[in-house]
Amino acid sequence: MSGTRALRLGVNVDHIATVRNARGGARPDPVRAALLAIDAGADGITAHLREDRRHIRDEDMRRLKAAISKPLNFEMAATEQMLDIALSVAPHACCLVPEKRTERTTEGGLDVVGGFGHLKPFIAELSRGGVRVSLFIEPDGAALEAAAALGAPVVELHTGAWCHAVEQGEEARAESEFERLRVAAMRASGLGLECHAGHGLDFDTARRIASLPEIVELNIGHFLVGEALFVGLAESVRLMRKAMDEGRAAAEGA
Ligand code: PXP
Repeated sequence: MSGTRALRLGVNVDHIATVRNARGGARPDPVRAALLAIDAGADGITAHLREDRRHIRDEDMRRLKAAISKPLNFEMAATEQMLDIALSVAPHACCLVPEKRTERTTEGGLDVVGGFGHLKPFIAELSRGGVRVSLFIEPDGAALEAAAALGAPVVELHTGAWCHAVEQGEEARAESEFERLRVAAMRASGLGLECHAGHGLDFDTARRIASLPEIVELNIGHFLVGEALFVGLAESVRLMRKAMDEGRAAAEGA
């Protein structure tokens, strides 16, 4: 592709582990899924080690790091325990996310404004350890400015509110949420932040968000794993890659 920057696909394998854990035992193996996803066109693998270990476990992170040839993006809450694990796994990147034990999934962006003092040493330690830090934030100007002031090189914009509005057929809200993402991606770029996005994306929303040239990586999990039940994981990843490429090419040609 020419023109704007390439758009990377990070495949999140958490829910392969969710299915494994439903029965105990070793199958399906998230490492096997990661290798297959890379073969099918993923540019990296994302996994979230939650404090309750409901899907990915410590050993999965180590095995993923050892097995895959592409970057590993380690999602985690900013806690001392996670920091120690991340520094010992030494992934390519860490995405700091908020975590509530009772939530079904990551329900909002990090409070980078209120949590500034808490987050700062985590970003510094991870960066010193050679890990590229990304902050999962709402598409919001104050959050972007705080992320830049914290010295994180990357932000990941939470696409959940937009995707939810699209899914509910709430067109006006979906358009205003998309506009927030568009403005935030431009602002991130203006602040010198590398801009990623993710949460709740499917083929259609990935195609649309691919039109924002400042966004260079999408992290996608739940939809891909669900779709894999019907078409297989490799095909699900290939179709996602195609949707993203089409979205970006259409924007370039526009
Ligand atoms: N990015 C971040 C920071 C996340 O926490 C998640 C969910 O774990 C995702 C992306 C992927 O979201 P989904 O599974 O809805 O595609």
